[in-house]
Amino acid sequence: MNQDELKRAAAIAALDYVIDGEIVGVGTGSTANHFIDGLASIKDRICGAVASSEASAQRLAGHGVRLFDLNDVERMPVYVDGADEINAGLAMIKGGGGALTREKIVAAVADRFVCICDASKRVARLGGFPLPVEVIPMARAHVARRLAALGGEPRLRQNFVTDNGNLILDVHGLEITDPAGLESAIDHIAGVVSNGLFARHGADVLLLAAADGVERLLRP
Ligand code: 5RP
Repeated sequence: MNQDELKRAAAIAALDYVIDGEIVGVGTGSTANHFIDGLASIKDRICGAVASSEASAQRLAGHGVRLFDLNDVERMPVYVDGADEINAGLAMIKGGGGALTREKIVAAVADRFVCICDASKRVARLGGFPLPVEVIPMARAHVARRLAALGGEPRLRQNFVTDNGNLILDVHGLEITDPAGLESAIDHIAGVVSNGLFARHGADVLLLAAADGVERLLRP
């Protein structure tokens, strides 16, 4: 199986976590796209979906899945999304697709975060993947200096504007020994909208696809 087939296997396994008659939170990226395509086959069983990006909203709408504005949704049982890296504690780096802020918001409303990944995303220590940080444009240089002071090398993502009209700094070379602490420290820099560490609230379930099947791991 190639990587895309593994992503699809993890995504299809996540359909078992979708509750009939309820709203499902939907992530962003190539793995989430497989989930959206799978969701289309059971769309008559669910109430609808909340999307974490314009791209996912468009794909869901293309399949005829009813979309809800998050402001009209009080709770949802599950949020399903991929990750760029995930560790044994189910803390993640997300935001490779630049949708980290909306992903964090939609996930916050859901009772459970189901992460869908191919096996390459599992790491012993987070930080090999550059950490995305969404910043207000006027704060770009200030935030970059503060991120450098934390030991990282921030690089502006070229030709990219988030769905919220902001910029992304991808921070290379961070030694992430305390993911939740670093998540908070970066959030406290003035001008940061959010960062791609999902550690204070990581995944609850990881569906990890490898050649021999999809393994289900729970947050320890
Ligand atoms: C988008 C994300 C994605 O979940 C992450 O980048 C993984 O993407 P893919 O499923 O394409 O490997 O956080 O902002």
